[in-house]
Amino acid sequence: MTTAPYPFSARHIGPGPKQTRAMLTAIGVPSVETLISQAVPKSIRLDRALNLPAPASEHEALAELGEKMGRNKVLKSFIGAGYHGVNVPPVIQRNLFENPAWYTAYTPYQAEISQGRLELLFHFQTLVAELTGLPVASASLLDEATAVAEAVGIALRHHRDKRSRVAIAGAAHPQVLDVVRTRAEPLGTEIDGETIDDNTAALIVSWPDTNGVYGDHRAAIEKAKAVGAIVIFVSDPLSLTVTDTPASLGADIAAGSMQRFGVPMGFGGPHAAYCAVSDKLTRLMPGRLVGQSVDSKGRPGYRLALQTREQHIRRDKATSNICTAQALLANMAASYAIWHGSVGLQAIAERVHALASRLAESLKAAGLPVLGDKRFDTVTIEAKGKAEAIAAEAEKTGRLLRVIDADHVSVAFDETSTAADLEAIAALFGAKVVAEAKRSLPGQPRGKEFLTQPVFHQNRSETDMMRFLRRLADKDLALDRAMIPLGSCTMKLNAAAEMMPVSWPSVANLHPFAPTSHSLGYRAMTDDLEAWLCEITGFDAVSLQPNAGSQGEYAGLLAIRRYHHSRGETQRNICLIPSSAHGTNPASAAMAGMDVVVVHCLEDGDIDVTDLKVKAEQHADKLAALMFTYPSTHGVFEEGARDICEIVHAHGGQVYFDGANLNAMVALSRPADIGADVCHMNLHKTFCIPHGGGGPGIGPIGVKSHLAPFLPGHVEIGSAHAVSAAPFGSASILPITWMYIRMMGASGLKHATETAILNANYIVSKLEGHYPVLFKGKNGRVAHECILDTRVLKERAGISVEDIAKRLIDYGFHAPTMSWPVAGTLMVEPTESEPKHEIDRFCDAMIAIANEAAKVEKGEWPRDDNPLVNAPHTATETLAGEWKHPYSRLEAAYPGGDPDTVAKYWPPVSRIDNVAGDRNLVCACPPLSEYLGAAE
Ligand SMILES: Cc1ncc(COP(=O)(O)O)c(C=O)c1O
Repeated sequence: MTTAPYPFSARHIGPGPKQTRAMLTAIGVPSVETLISQAVPKSIRLDRALNLPAPASEHEALAELGEKMGRNKVLKSFIGAGYHGVNVPPVIQRNLFENPAWYTAYTPYQAEISQGRLELLFHFQTLVAELTGLPVASASLLDEATAVAEAVGIALRHHRDKRSRVAIAGAAHPQVLDVVRTRAEPLGTEIDGETIDDNTAALIVSWPDTNGVYGDHRAAIEKAKAVGAIVIFVSDPLSLTVTDTPASLGADIAAGSMQRFGVPMGFGGPHAAYCAVSDKLTRLMPGRLVGQSVDSKGRPGYRLALQTREQHIRRDKATSNICTAQALLANMAASYAIWHGSVGLQAIAERVHALASRLAESLKAAGLPVLGDKRFDTVTIEAKGKAEAIAAEAEKTGRLLRVIDADHVSVAFDETSTAADLEAIAALFGAKVVAEAKRSLPGQPRGKEFLTQPVFHQNRSETDMMRFLRRLADKDLALDRAMIPLGSCTMKLNAAAEMMPVSWPSVANLHPFAPTSHSLGYRAMTDDLEAWLCEITGFDAVSLQPNAGSQGEYAGLLAIRRYHHSRGETQRNICLIPSSAHGTNPASAAMAGMDVVVVHCLEDGDIDVTDLKVKAEQHADKLAALMFTYPSTHGVFEEGARDICEIVHAHGGQVYFDGANLNAMVALSRPADIGADVCHMNLHKTFCIPHGGGGPGIGPIGVKSHLAPFLPGHVEIGSAHAVSAAPFGSASILPITWMYIRMMGASGLKHATETAILNANYIVSKLEGHYPVLFKGKNGRVAHECILDTRVLKERAGISVEDIAKRLIDYGFHAPTMSWPVAGTLMVEPTESEPKHEIDRFCDAMIAIANEAAKVEKGEWPRDDNPLVNAPHTATETLAGEWKHPYSRLEAAYPGGDPDTVAKYWPPVSRIDNVAGDRNLVCACPPLSEYLGAAE
């Protein structure tokens, strides 16, 4: 137990005792206990302390986790199967991966403060488009297996759900097939080997297949084309630097993992998956897409494109349920390609290929049968009955091979493989390495004409690369500069000690399918975490597999569905969802094969219990679940939560809790005690995993014991129904949450929750004289966030919520959540990590904005020329020779009278025009065959 004068919780929680007292006074309550008793209904309170280990200091926790992770056995992996060893370029590791300017940013909804990460994601899209030959690539999906499943989803939508069969050409990785099957089953889609007919929606071509072999799939592709099926290529992106593109081979979609572009294996993740499509499929794409647009001055700028496809707008009709994706990892992959360029990537690919070709030839020369004659990096050897024994011998030399079955073993080379590895592996088979082997790739060599865009050529020196990454980071406003008061997103501190283990070799370099005895450290950590999360939420079992909240929702609903089916109640497919729910809820329900029935909310934001009763009654025979966000998306603890759960149970349904707002509950109340059967936890909100500019995330689910048999399984552990490619999903970032809970302990976690509620209620006390606060609980208190009704400024002065959001940028803030769950409002969540002075700075900015609007209202500033409608103000226009506005340059750029002028955040663009970007979609840099001034 720590004896330090300042425990970690005091470093994590912003306000100290003095600040807390001042805030309590402003709110008008004598103590934190009183405030909590007013905000959190007695009926849901936990009446005991959580049973967690006593808090450890940063160094104690690091030492403890270090000892655990030291139990992992990290051998050199030749397992492949979608995961490869990498040399993370140190310049990227230090300046991006371990840099809070990159990892503490939010999803780039506010385009003007996100130009850096949007630009790099745009380069990611360009990279994928170049590699695949397809014109439009998204800004990352969650992992390879889910990306392939999403690609199948595109094909089904393309056929308006009228076709229900998917054919396979070339054996897919087992984990990919399993996730595709999981996704297909609730939709009634059949994954049916080789049959291709009028009912075939898609053909999945694994190129190369899981054994590393490129089959001849021309006939199947031709047949698929003839019946109008969508051809999906699953390809290794490194191989695509030296082979024909999927597009040239007939692909309509290409999907796969970008892991080997500089992202460590991390026992399974997180990694960015890619997905690229032909033009006709653009509007059916899942996930985020970055597009180029213009700002109000006509300058180019980036922003998220075609958002009308996404769950937050289309709900159950969305193209997928994805919200949090893998932005940070996509940006690492793009940086890796920018650092190496086409020449460097090809050199890596050729070297890897040469090692594989030489092994194959050497084995053949020694009389050993090797599968296929076209390969990239993997050699699969037929070794009748000896596969296990050979792998065991390899292990003795410090190398892990993949045992495919009793008779086959495979070897996948990567950029960390050496000639010594080749010698040692050949020796296992009694073979002598041949000096050279001819190219065994299919088709024509790719040539040099790709990635010709300047950005892939200008950053060869470390000085250039370091400055490139710095320049991009400087364009953005992340948590390392200012409070990000995004309601429902919980942008709290991601402490350095929590982040450090992610880079440890014992955490980063383990293959997810390494033998169980090699991941004892990971398993000790995940056992702790599962037990702690069960204690925190009250559930009996936890699955850490889902790699975002949306995926947790999906996994939870599947567990509910499978539970009903196990009881013979296959007709239960109605999912009740309150109108205020996050878009991922209805989108996940649709993916789980459920029909969404919307339950009304009352004026005060609570679920309309009368409507709930009517609908539960009406659908009693078919009721599968209610998805219930608690505390509500309106930022209050509803009094009737227990009753709501009882109503659903009484009609045979299960209660799904959306735990996005768990930061208001930890140590005060537990979802399972209230009546939830299953709940997802966003570890990238409540439990300190940074948001990464739009991911990674982790969305574990907790379940009551009756649902435990229906948690996701995995082929590697001999079960099915996986929702992610790896058994523990994005395992390598789980240590962040482990460190947080270990350092906070029960007392620290309770203090954090209380402070989150204190900070939100303090904001209410400061701002409600200027903006009505929309929803409060019975005692006039909010939970951990509040909704400011900014529509009053619209009514009085024509100032929109967007104007306020953009003006906040001039004051140096990221806007709160805009127009959700109520259009025209701002939802503010300060979290416990923000100190009082930062909250005051934010409140002062909001009050100053109200005063600015008052000037517009009084006619002191015209409605079409004032600092609000013109916001944000860039340095370029503020310093321009001519200034024609009725307010000063100082009022434009330093509205808060910021005394620290050097720290001023300057947005790189003025307001971005969203509509123009969607009208003229540009999602990748045009290739340049000639360019001037590049470094090479
Ligand atoms: C209430 C709510 N539910 C679900 C989600 C989805 O979580 P994720 O972004 O991790 O998929 C969010 C994300 O913001 C949310 O706010």
